[in-house]
Amino acid sequence: MACASKPAPVAKPIPAVTPGDIWKYINEDQPYQNWSTFPPERVPADAVWKDDYINLWIEGEVAKIYMNSTALSAIDKAPRDLPYGSIIIAEVYPIKEDETLAECTEIAGFYKVEGSTALYNDWVSFAYAPDGSMPLLPDGRVMDAVYGPVFGTKTFCHSCHEAAENDFIWIDSPKYDVEHTQMPAPVAKPIPAVTPGDIWNYINEDQPYQDWSPFPPERVPADAVWKDDYHNTHLEGTVAKTYVNSTALSAIDKAPRDLPYGSIIVAEYYPIKEDGTLAECTAIAGFYKVEGSTAQHNDWVSFAYTPDGSVRDVDYGPVFGTKTFCHSCHEAAENDYIWIDSPKYDVEHTQMPSPEKQ
Ligand code: HEC
Ligand code: HEC
Repeated sequence: MACASKPAPVAKPIPAVTPGDIWKYINEDQPYQNWSTFPPERVPADAVWKDDYINLWIEGEVAKIYMNSTALSAIDKAPRDLPYGSIIIAEVYPIKEDETLAECTEIAGFYKVEGSTALYNDWVSFAYAPDGSMPLLPDGRVMDAVYGPVFGTKTFCHSCHEAAENDFIWIDSPKYDVEHTQMPAPVAKPIPAVTPGDIWNYINEDQPYQDWSPFPPERVPADAVWKDDYHNTHLEGTVAKTYVNSTALSAIDKAPRDLPYGSIIVAEYYPIKEDGTLAECTAIAGFYKVEGSTAQHNDWVSFAYTPDGSVRDVDYGPVFGTKTFCHSCHEAAENDYIWIDSPKYDVEHTQMPSPEKQ
């Protein structure tokens, strides 16, 4: 008897490592709610709240855990080392006083990507609010503002999950303890102090800005784009690449815009050579929003460095602080100091105020 002919397996488009791509993949391409839940026989009985919902270390919240078939295929192996392409997701729900569940507040997970991080066995973490933006803590603060980025290869998620010693999965870890008495506390992010050296170290070592998202390309006017991620600047013959940290990214689409504290925007400047290629980067400039730093300039601290980390010193006065020539021009953008997607932005720069000497 002939076997039924099986259709050839279709290669799945696996998502790239950006917040938007992963979000789209788990919601549209391969909706996670159609995946398997975490195998119930692997969940300790005292962790189960009801049906598929397990208690969480965050008091008063439960989660439902899903995994894609790549992860499921090796979940029983010991020692466990899930294959590349594995994705594990926890949907988080607060329990209401009447013991029913409130709406889902967070979709958090890990995605194993070859070559992404030797330190954390190639797990990239992510966490979203149900609309795909950055999640909030139960007290309403942006999670990122307290614990640091929730997206990437070096987040507070890793700091706790690596302790599971079970390829980053806690719920069936031999060390799992429903009282959570042995669980390391999440590590609050080191936010940089407002000194040139601290900000430089932060954006180069602690949270390298080159790992952040580029400024969302759909927000950059087409006539400002030079090539790929590079946009023209008001400095003739120079283009820039602009990066935003996840704190800034979380609110970049809000109107009116008021980015949360901890937001950092960095632009890298490159002169264009005669042959149309780029020379070495000449400056790294940006803004960092620090609570209480300057009411006059909506709490934006500006900075500008040469590539070796020294503070740039130009004709217009100091380029570090809360009252620099950077503010005098950027405040005119009326878009929480961001020019490139300001309604007033004009690629010819004819409407741009000239910088004021300090
Ligand atoms: C303080 C330690 C801690 C931190 C920080 C933490 N988790 Fe967890 N996580 C756990 C524990 C413990 C579980 C198992 C369920 C439970 O008891 O809470 C879990 C469950 C999960 C699960 C289900 C699979 C599993 O490991 O059991 C996912 C997915 C998950 N967390 C993702 C994240 C992401 C993403 C972050 C960062 C936004 C994060 N976690 C931060 C401790 C932590
Ligand atoms: C004469 C006005 C002017 C001055 C002065 C100025 N900028 Fe800008 N900046 C702009 C404009 C306009 C853009 C948008 C890209 C472009 O066309 O140059 C921009 C882009 C940026 C960006 C990318 C995000 C955005 O707003 O689009 C950063 C970061 C930035 N500038 C930082 C600085 C810093 C730091 C200083 C001081 C060292 C400074 N700028 C001085 C006008 C100015």
